[in-house]
Amino acid sequence: MIIKPAIKNNICVRVHPIGCRENVKRQIDYVKTKGSFKGPKNVLIIGGSSGYGLASRVTLGFGCNANTINVSFEIEPKRNKTGTAGWWNNIYFQQFAKEEGLKYKDFIGDAFSFEMKQQVIDYIKREYGKIDLLVYSLASNRRTDPVTGETYISSLKSIGKTVDGYSIDINKECLKYEKMEEATPEEIQNTIKVMGGEDWDLWVEALMKEDLLEEGFKTVSYTYLGSPATYDIYHEGTIGKAKNHLEETARALNTTLKEKYNGQALISASKAIVTKASIYIPIFPVYGAILYKLMKEAGTHEGEIEQKYRLFKDMVYGEEPIIDEVGRYRPDNLEQDEALQEKVKEILNKIDNDNLHELSDIKGFVDDFMKINGFNFDTVDYEQDVDMETLNEVEL
Ligand code: NAI
Ligand code: NA
Repeated sequence: MIIKPAIKNNICVRVHPIGCRENVKRQIDYVKTKGSFKGPKNVLIIGGSSGYGLASRVTLGFGCNANTINVSFEIEPKRNKTGTAGWWNNIYFQQFAKEEGLKYKDFIGDAFSFEMKQQVIDYIKREYGKIDLLVYSLASNRRTDPVTGETYISSLKSIGKTVDGYSIDINKECLKYEKMEEATPEEIQNTIKVMGGEDWDLWVEALMKEDLLEEGFKTVSYTYLGSPATYDIYHEGTIGKAKNHLEETARALNTTLKEKYNGQALISASKAIVTKASIYIPIFPVYGAILYKLMKEAGTHEGEIEQKYRLFKDMVYGEEPIIDEVGRYRPDNLEQDEALQEKVKEILNKIDNDNLHELSDIKGFVDDFMKINGFNFDTVDYEQDVDMETLNEVEL
């Protein structure tokens, strides 16, 4: 099958396996070039098949020789369907890890469920005894509560007002007027239920109960804070409320872990980047495209792998943590630059379809979107026939 991109409503409904391999390899190469560092031995990552979770896995595997277990929700290729990018990322992570002599394991399914937690627990008991790090990098729009069986849907909405702005139409590379609607109290609660800290807490509790946490155990989850330019749509919106809950969870977990294992639970704020999840946030892509332009001009632009390498090497396992007044680790420091944010705000106020290409890095933004789906790599021949069945015949 010859695979060409097909984008519908800003979702890439086809992905390119060989390009996904390139996406994983490019991140491994980055870590190898930057060098190894002392870190954890056995790591569990929830949501390690794409975006920040995958970059965390690559950093820890190839940067510290860590054995990695990944739980992700991905779809296998079938007939003329290419499967999801995360599916292929897992396969190629495994191939590269195998070459490197690293131990790896992938669980595909619902991390929110008790069944998945039990499977992972059984595996850890059998293969490792204990783990030293849990990275919680899940992004989802729904969650079934494992106790009640009720399914909650999250919303990406503002609170107390509607917000006008633009979204990016990836196909046409243009702006499209968009209104972010005001959330109802129920929508706020449901978003907290999905993207707050409840499931993270359940994972730590379950692992703790089975005595699977090593002395000095750490756990980290990711938030986005952004700047006044994005507060209405993120930090002060429904997702921001969920992230507040995630932070409360971290504080409670930190107290427990410190006491029991001399351990740590921490929150790290990451930079805005293009991922499968972030592309859904209304108005966020326009901010992202402007940010990309200004940070590239300033020479401070980073992608997922640069962010996670810095987080783990310099901060979580290093001597140069950037920690804010409430204890969050801040590799997003370069995005926070005040002069930069002033410029972002100025451009956001005047951006339109006539000046979009001049005032933003829409090209680079769309290029990143294509790349996370396996397209736009110079090193891949997209006219080549891809035999997905053969590529997929890998032991998971
Ligand atoms: P992503 O969409 O690339 O990754 C989400 C991961 O969650 C994937 O591995 C997916 O398979 C997994 N997943 C989703 N539902 C699942 C389920 N039910 N069971 C098991 N796995 C499931 O998203 P991204 O952007 O990397 O997000 C990860 C974290 O980083 C989130 O907490 C997000 O808020 C945070 N973050 C993202 C930023 C961005 O600009 N993309 C900025 C700052 C923080
Ligand atoms: Na992720």
